[in-house]
Amino acid sequence: MKKVVVANMKMQLTKFEVEEYINKLDDFKSNDIELIVCPSCLYLNLFNSSNYSIGSQNVFYENRGKYTGEISPIQLKDYFVKYVIVGHSERRRYFNETDDIINKKIKVCIDNDLKVILCIGEENENSSSILNTLDNQIELALENICNLLPENIIFAYEPVYAIGTNKSISNKNISYIVDYIKEKINKKYNFIPTVLYGGSVNENNIKDILLYCDGVMIGDFCLKRDKFIETINLL
Ligand code: PGA
Repeated sequence: MKKVVVANMKMQLTKFEVEEYINKLDDFKSNDIELIVCPSCLYLNLFNSSNYSIGSQNVFYENRGKYTGEISPIQLKDYFVKYVIVGHSERRRYFNETDDIINKKIKVCIDNDLKVILCIGEENENSSSILNTLDNQIELALENICNLLPENIIFAYEPVYAIGTNKSISNKNISYIVDYIKEKINKKYNFIPTVLYGGSVNENNIKDILLYCDGVMIGDFCLKRDKFIETINLL
């Protein structure tokens, strides 16, 4: 199975920089990697998904309505968006995205055939209840969703303290948690899901990390455009 690489560009690039990035994406040639590029929504229309997929960093949980400033799933479909990041810790932290909101977003994505990249992860490095936290996040995110299928969802395990810190967690811990999530979903939904790791993945650790999970979600490192494309081409 292809390994997945999600490039989460966050709110980092201007239009000019995005256009330069798109030119560079022509150099992405690997057949072993599914690359999912997630730009700011303003620039989704500039991307053309011939050798990679397009993801949105956000979505609202209604198709239409009086919701100033929000982005509807049907609008995303107009731009050939295939994936949507839901529950990223930055949205939980800065935009008060609750488990209930995340649950609604997942439902609307499934209804619209948008594949969810569900981010989960503990806040603190020394937490004694990591598995409880993950259990809670998963159960609340998927509450009342009985018809979950492998094509509906990818999980991204992202310990919050590892994001943007240049300090990834150990491969042993990644492996343990990834297996835990797979087993949990398999028990409930009868399929083994794709599970990614995210948090300070870079050119030095990506290859090793990919031995223990199905893919990675990358923030800072994907902004080093040339190095990023060169690295993932060699995976
Ligand atoms: P990072 O971000 O690669 O900069 O740690 C990962 C993320 O936010 O998904």
